Amino acid sequence: AQSLRALGQRHGLYVGTAVDMAALNDAAEPRYREIVRDEFSTVTAENVMKWESLEPTRGTYDWSAADELVATARRNGQKVRGHVLVWHSQLPKWLTDGVADGSIDNTELRSILRQHITTVASRYRGKIWQWDVVNEAVSDPWDTPSTLHYKGFWAEHLGPGYVADAFRWARAADPTALLFYNDYNIEAFGSGDPANDKTQFVYDMVKGLLARGVPIDGVGSQGHLGTQYGNYDTLQVADALHRFAGLGLSTAFTEVDVRSRLTDGVQAGDSEEINPRLQASAANFHVLLQACLAEPRCLSFTVWGFTDRHSWVPGTFDDPPQGLATIYDENYQPKRAYQVMKADLIY
Ligand code: G3I
Repeated sequence: AQSLRALGQRHGLYVGTAVDMAALNDAAEPRYREIVRDEFSTVTAENVMKWESLEPTRGTYDWSAADELVATARRNGQKVRGHVLVWHSQLPKWLTDGVADGSIDNTELRSILRQHITTVASRYRGKIWQWDVVNEAVSDPWDTPSTLHYKGFWAEHLGPGYVADAFRWARAADPTALLFYNDYNIEAFGSGDPANDKTQFVYDMVKGLLARGVPIDGVGSQGHLGTQYGNYDTLQVADALHRFAGLGLSTAFTEVDVRSRLTDGVQAGDSEEINPRLQASAANFHVLLQACLAEPRCLSFTVWGFTDRHSWVPGTFDDPPQGLATIYDENYQPKRAYQVMKADLIY
């Protein structure tokens, strides 16, 4: 049978997964390694390129796991999405503590950020296809205040100007990588109050960056969905990708998974035939993949983990418990979502 990566190639589409390095190195789980190698043409480090992993102690970088991800990808003939240079989460404790206790002021913080971006992007210069330069900078309508705004640690301390700075510093350090802004809840325009439309806010933000000559090449739509929220339409999602492309930007789906509430009368382990959640999950994968296939500038379609055995969802959503978000079950059996992706890619 043809792999996802082989079928994707027919369309010039790279099909990717986030990689959990602990699972990749687990001798008891050869299937994990085989599926990463055989099914995907691009990989993203799920955690090991984040700041807390790279620089747990100030001034001492530990490149081992990130280097290994890059080397494995090279062996497998895969492109690497670098994730992530600037994010408010998974920051090292020395950094957040230093800011909290006042030993790092905002002037120093800005130069620490510049140094970090320069160090990481330079080390992997020429080896990263797409960098997530800035991740999740924008609030959601359910946040407080509900009016959309630049959120989180970096905006609070440096103001929104850090976004443009980050792209400029990344470009200087690695002129070869495609530089992406990456976020969730931007799959479609007009879902909700138009005055509070996150996709529109991100669109205006990247348009503004381009107008000021900031080096940004793409927008990554994460694609973390849930079956309890229903489906988008393919045309709605394709339209969003197309509007970003109209600015001259590439796009990509960067972290796709579709979770379900396990308590909705359906349990993990139910067969596909009797489990409507698995079908609903598959239907959402289908919508996002069809939209990406319809947009020539949608470069890659990456799932955020490929097996329910190693997925961030159960550890994050436990009340009520959620799961079943990926395309293989916990025993590495392909699910309906995997078959649907293949069917989409065959034509
Ligand atoms: O490394 C420690 C380990 O030493 C410890 O034993 C274990 C016990 O909890 O925790 C481990 O750290 C966990 C880390 O993943 C590595 O597995 C953290 O607790 C856990 O919070 C962390 O979760 C990650 C999450 O980002 C953190 O924000 C998920 O794996 C990762 O999938 C998730 O990925 C994010 C993207 O980067 C950005 N977009 C959203 C996406 C989903 O949240």
